[in-house]
Amino acid sequence: MTGTLTIAGLGPGSDALVTPEVTAALAAATDILGYAPYVTRVPPRAGLKLHSSDNREELQRASEALRLASEGGKVVVVSSGDPGVFAMASAVFEALEQAPQWQNISIRVLPGITAMLAAAARVGAPLGHDFCAINLSDNLKPWAVIEKRLRLAAEADFSIAMYNPRSASRPEGFGRALALLKDAGCGERLVIFARAISAADERIETVTLNEARPEMADMRTLVIVGNSQTRRVGRWVYAPRQVR
Ligand SMILES: C[S@@+](CC[C@H](N)C(=O)[O-])C[C@H]1O[C@@H](n2cnc3c(N)ncnc32)[C@H](O)[C@@H]1O
Repeated sequence: MTGTLTIAGLGPGSDALVTPEVTAALAAATDILGYAPYVTRVPPRAGLKLHSSDNREELQRASEALRLASEGGKVVVVSSGDPGVFAMASAVFEALEQAPQWQNISIRVLPGITAMLAAAARVGAPLGHDFCAINLSDNLKPWAVIEKRLRLAAEADFSIAMYNPRSASRPEGFGRALALLKDAGCGERLVIFARAISAADERIETVTLNEARPEMADMRTLVIVGNSQTRRVGRWVYAPRQVR
């Protein structure tokens, strides 16, 4: 078996934030698989097949990537940001678990800059102390689990990075998450809405949780809720290194 499977993170959007090792893997690939908006970020060239699919087809895409690699392809599965953060790396390993015949394929996971780090860097250092990341999509977990994790994160005074905050098919959840955090006494905490980070239409807004409205987020937004110490200094937002 001579094929390889690389799972690569394309970063948040700008070409300047794609790592050199990901660029090299894309240049050597015979096949690129991924959600259509991510595959379109890879320029077409002779000898390269681009396989776009819907964002609900991760497991199917992962199996297809393994099959192509088993047939000798230099296959790259692309994700935005980092492939291990709410993205394709887990889906590939899930598919591998179900398919022992592919377990000898050479696999590499190449990291990328995840949205919460790109967003944090734009505003200062809001993840400078203990933090957690929560995916607000309830496609793959019950909403009750999301609520429990938010409640405990608030109680533990973590800064909270929220991925997938709000979509057309899930318009209600983010408002419920904001209400839960307000009820948990976080109303005065700073909340950063970081939309389309590093893309041409990037937009960043920082308000208190009491001022935050669900419509301020969509599926291209990464939301960071500060901890109780997170504060502004001039135009910047940061979490102090010391907890009192
Ligand atoms: C399916 S998750 C993929 C996360 C990705 N693997 C990462 O590491 O950033 C998609 C979510 O990531 C966030 N996201 C991805 N790119 C972003 C960007 N450029 N600006 C703001 N948020 C982004 C949004 O919350 C979006 O709903």
